[in-house]
Amino acid sequence: MSIIFQESTRTFRLNAKNTTYMFKILDDEGFMAHAYWGKKLSDTDASYIVRRIPSPSVMERERATILDTMPQEFPSEDVGDFREAAFGLLDSEGHEGCSLLYDSHAIYPGKPALSGLPATFGSEKDCETLELTLKDPVLGIKAILLYTVFEDLDVIARSVRIVNEGKAPVRLTRVLSASVDFDREDLDMVSLWGGWARENNAQRVPIQHGIQKVESARGESSNTYHPFMALMAHDATDDFGEVYGFNFVYSGNFIAETQKEQHGYIRALMGINPQHFGWKLVPGDSFQAPEVILVHSSEGLSGMTRTYHDLYRQHLVRGKYAHALRPVLINNWEATYFDFNTEKLLEIASLAAKQGIELFVMDDGWFGSRRSDNAGLGDWYVCEDVLPGGLKPLADGINALGMKFGLWIEPEMVNEDSDLYRAHPDWAIQIPGRKHSRKRNQLVLDFSRKEVVDYIYGMIHKVLSSTNVEYVKWDMNRTLTNLGSYALDADRQQELSHRYVLGVYDMQNRLTTDFPQILLENCSSGGARFDPGMLYYSPQIWTSDNTDAIARLKIQAGTALMYPLSTIDANISIVPNHQTGRITPFTTRGDVAMCGTFGYQLDITKLTEEELSLIPKQVENYHRFNPLVTTGDYYRLHDIFTQDSWDSWMIVAKDRSEALVTYVQILAQGGDMIFPKVRLKGLEADSFYRIEGTDTVVSGQLLMQSGLQIDLKRGDYVSASVHLIREA
Ligand code: DGJ
Repeated sequence: MSIIFQESTRTFRLNAKNTTYMFKILDDEGFMAHAYWGKKLSDTDASYIVRRIPSPSVMERERATILDTMPQEFPSEDVGDFREAAFGLLDSEGHEGCSLLYDSHAIYPGKPALSGLPATFGSEKDCETLELTLKDPVLGIKAILLYTVFEDLDVIARSVRIVNEGKAPVRLTRVLSASVDFDREDLDMVSLWGGWARENNAQRVPIQHGIQKVESARGESSNTYHPFMALMAHDATDDFGEVYGFNFVYSGNFIAETQKEQHGYIRALMGINPQHFGWKLVPGDSFQAPEVILVHSSEGLSGMTRTYHDLYRQHLVRGKYAHALRPVLINNWEATYFDFNTEKLLEIASLAAKQGIELFVMDDGWFGSRRSDNAGLGDWYVCEDVLPGGLKPLADGINALGMKFGLWIEPEMVNEDSDLYRAHPDWAIQIPGRKHSRKRNQLVLDFSRKEVVDYIYGMIHKVLSSTNVEYVKWDMNRTLTNLGSYALDADRQQELSHRYVLGVYDMQNRLTTDFPQILLENCSSGGARFDPGMLYYSPQIWTSDNTDAIARLKIQAGTALMYPLSTIDANISIVPNHQTGRITPFTTRGDVAMCGTFGYQLDITKLTEEELSLIPKQVENYHRFNPLVTTGDYYRLHDIFTQDSWDSWMIVAKDRSEALVTYVQILAQGGDMIFPKVRLKGLEADSFYRIEGTDTVVSGQLLMQSGLQIDLKRGDYVSASVHLIREA
């Protein structure tokens, strides 16, 4: 049993593989005190561990002082704790106070689904769940906290459902999914920042007194900050020391924050951003908040990374392609942009097919009046001027080449210049009387409204049923502003952002249920909605519109901080690169893309003979190495926080029998030593590994302690990929 409730001390102990998480009911009133999260303990009594402090009900004269100091499991606002809270509300009289006290609990095998939301899943053998019910005695508000422990991983999934069992409506103002009070001061915060075409840069800063947070209020999880943070002990490195990961399974507004309070201790919280959030909860109704995935590692940041990879591969990503080899794709966006027709697409496809490429994806521009990004979004029917006779002749032509056919959609959006907008202007998110804040000349459809989702899905369903479509790229190219819905009452307008996300999930759910054969790929101007919520519906996500191999090093390493390589779409594109103007070798572009889902985004008819000749071998290598890349353990060989003249990483098979090492020289260095050496990780020290393509056999110990010699050509942007095979 991984979850134990010790009756005598009223302690809850949650034991994952190498981790313990503990809290206890502090007194008869039912205050819940957080006790511990860290390396595994065998103790079942948390009495000694809880920060020494009288209970609020024992020392009534200092109730507020104590509440402001004690470690709380699910802190609420305005009864004494002035730190950042997990929960806040306004009651029907306009008061803010709420006190969530122990009511009951249940422990059971398995993990329940979260209504309307993506979440990790697990069988009764994989995991166990604690359902802890807290109750406010005055308002009758209940908070049902779920803690699921994945026994073979150092993972605890936390979420909360709020139920109004009182007599009057309340307005929820803050419902975060997890709060952890650490009895330690020595933590750094790791977070990811970025923007369009430069997603997921990792930064590490000490946690100072005050509040530190990353957030999105953009309606999507965003490319500016990521719904993730890791707290690293000051002395922790990539390979050693304690790290606590937080990742939010949600695709909308979020906060991830820390507060170092007056005594120096640190509170960490994660959940839906209270900005743009308010929820009217009438008696009998409930509100389900998404889940946070807590990962503890005592093997540094890389231990955390590998745990997230294992969890998401086994317990989040679903469907036909969750564990299957994905087809090598070629996408026409950077090849043609909006300038294409059936003939041009078939010309690209037929040359691609000859090289072994397996899936052709038609990107933006095939529907309605979409001849540029100024018009057509919302009109999901084929434009006969572009594709005479519709989709079928194209799809049939592609299939006749032995390739699968896929297409691009952006269902959440509308251009004012579209039939849809002309018929339903009130379907766009907007504040009446206020100017639209357009982005890429488009508006966002009000996906909080079921009739809007139904209508859009009806059109898309028709397209997908009209021919043999085996892949869909679901794009989303703007943030949410001017938050107003024609369908919501004034006292519910602040529900729009969350209801919107629920609408998106609803449609993704319908699409993946009705078309299980389709490989769904999410995208949001690249990686602006690359999050675990989206991964529940699509096994891969377009990582960045920046396809430059050198820029991709940081972008992919940041993304791989918690997302498995099997989810990271990476393509080879043309040079000079369209985003950076940089010229890199075709082989380097291949080596970098190989550590993702792999594909091409270029006009193959414009490649040189030499470049073209490299493709069949790349496709063969992809088939050979992708099973290792998508199931193995990923190790960073270069510090993720530092920009350098080189980068390197490796993937080691779970049974340590083989490894793939990639090294990229960003800028060549002067001097005689032109062959770099990189110290490997994760191999068996006392086994011997053959460097494929050579007669060299080296011990794992030597490769890890002294390093692998990398054979590199002289020059900038060159790379090497080395396959190591354990000797029998
Ligand atoms: C943004 C995406 O990230 C691109 O890959 C491409 O699909 C364009 N949208 C099309 O408009």
